[in-house]
Amino acid sequence: MRNQTEKDRYTEKFRPQFHFSPREQWMNDPNGMVYFEGEYHLFFQYHPDGNTWGPMHWGHAVSKDLVHWQELPIALYPDELGTIFSGSAVVDWHNTSGFFQDGKPGLVAIYTNHDADPISGKVRQRQSVAYSVDNGRSWSKYEGNPVLENTSEPDYRDPKVFWHEKSGKWVMVLATGQSITIYHSPDLLRWTYASTFGHEEGSHAGVWECPDLFSLECDGEERWVMLVSIGDHPDTIEGSRTQYFIGNFDGKTFTNENPADLILWLDHGRDNYAGVSWSDLQDERRIYIGWMSNWRYANEVPTDGWRSAMTLPRELGLKKSSLGYRLIQRPVRELAILSEDGKDAKTPHILSEGETHQERLQTNLAYLHFETEADTNSVWALTIRHGKEELSLLTCRVGEGTLTLDRRRSGIHAFSASFPAVQMAEYAGSERGGFRLYIDTSSIEVFSSNGELAMTSLIFPEGETLDFEFKTLTGKVMLKEWKVSAVRSIWS
Ligand code: FRU
Repeated sequence: MRNQTEKDRYTEKFRPQFHFSPREQWMNDPNGMVYFEGEYHLFFQYHPDGNTWGPMHWGHAVSKDLVHWQELPIALYPDELGTIFSGSAVVDWHNTSGFFQDGKPGLVAIYTNHDADPISGKVRQRQSVAYSVDNGRSWSKYEGNPVLENTSEPDYRDPKVFWHEKSGKWVMVLATGQSITIYHSPDLLRWTYASTFGHEEGSHAGVWECPDLFSLECDGEERWVMLVSIGDHPDTIEGSRTQYFIGNFDGKTFTNENPADLILWLDHGRDNYAGVSWSDLQDERRIYIGWMSNWRYANEVPTDGWRSAMTLPRELGLKKSSLGYRLIQRPVRELAILSEDGKDAKTPHILSEGETHQERLQTNLAYLHFETEADTNSVWALTIRHGKEELSLLTCRVGEGTLTLDRRRSGIHAFSASFPAVQMAEYAGSERGGFRLYIDTSSIEVFSSNGELAMTSLIFPEGETLDFEFKTLTGKVMLKEWKVSAVRSIWS
């Protein structure tokens, strides 16, 4: 444990100022996100005794606005069934589980107990349940745990549970090796097999983990979205990442409406993994948060005393294009309270080849919004200087339809050969493209204005100021809007 006063916390080198990170020690996946009685709960994979991955607990934080977070004591500790891997939490509104009294609903967490047999070394992953009658402040484990086990599949984890209104049942999606298995239950305790999805679909570059399944609406049409994270595998360049499928769900079976070999990535940056969505939101939104790291180097990133942050919370939606439905994402609107009034360059600004638009900030916390209208073959670049020698480079090649974020010179990177990288996304909407960038000390999140593209990337610059330089490299680009705002820390 570090000898730190409360006052020093959250001011360490590389410490994010408007993203959630644990006060100290190691964190990975977000878990058990649920909204109940005015609080957004965020649990997370937590190793309280070290700054690298180790025996897993559920850490806990709450927020009233998805922006400011308060970390609470650890919620779930390892027990005789194993350590506490990822999972979800729900509000049991009608006491289907029988855990609650006097008609008052409570929280139920469904998680994976992970253990290895001390003699054979064989891994067991079993699903267990805990409940809380005091808004997640204390938890009781169900005495009948585990509630779901399997002897043939060692990778059997990360239950995400939701109430399926039409069938009047709880549904669980569970990562089972190279597929997602769906179960249903009347009471969160007795689970029945329903179907298996995915052996022949999408990417199988690594083990399947952390599924989620939810419906979204677009112009009065409903579609179901299945998120599946794919673990790191040495054969890939990118490491761990998250794919999604779009289709239908009838309470038992999920059907992908796209060709089985179509791979849809949730994020085109390297650092958004294991994300899932909140349960029981009361305002029809579907809000998601991911772990802002990558298993390829997560244990090595150069932070001291704490490790890892979450992405910004993002609202998910659907967009219909000629290719079909696609997932869109935008940081939640609540974040607007953090940006200070920025300078607005409203007058359209035509930049010909070689011309630049510049702006400097004496902080490394920024929100930048700009809109461009570019000639079909133009190329523009946004250089973000973090210090004299350090820069991140966002380049849009309109003719090629690509957007790249190059972090090879953005700061410290020697901790992993995989870290220096040019992250790339196809970007068809670039003729008339708008972008929103959130830069927080050691991360950059890029979103296209309409949300169809996201790129999340860690960076470790030594410099603590930001210089923006927008330049037209080829052709002509009209800068229709340009607004840089400093962002306030949530910890101050
Ligand atoms: C994903 C994951 C999960 C597992 C957890 C363990 O990052 O590997 O599948 O439950 O992390 O910490």
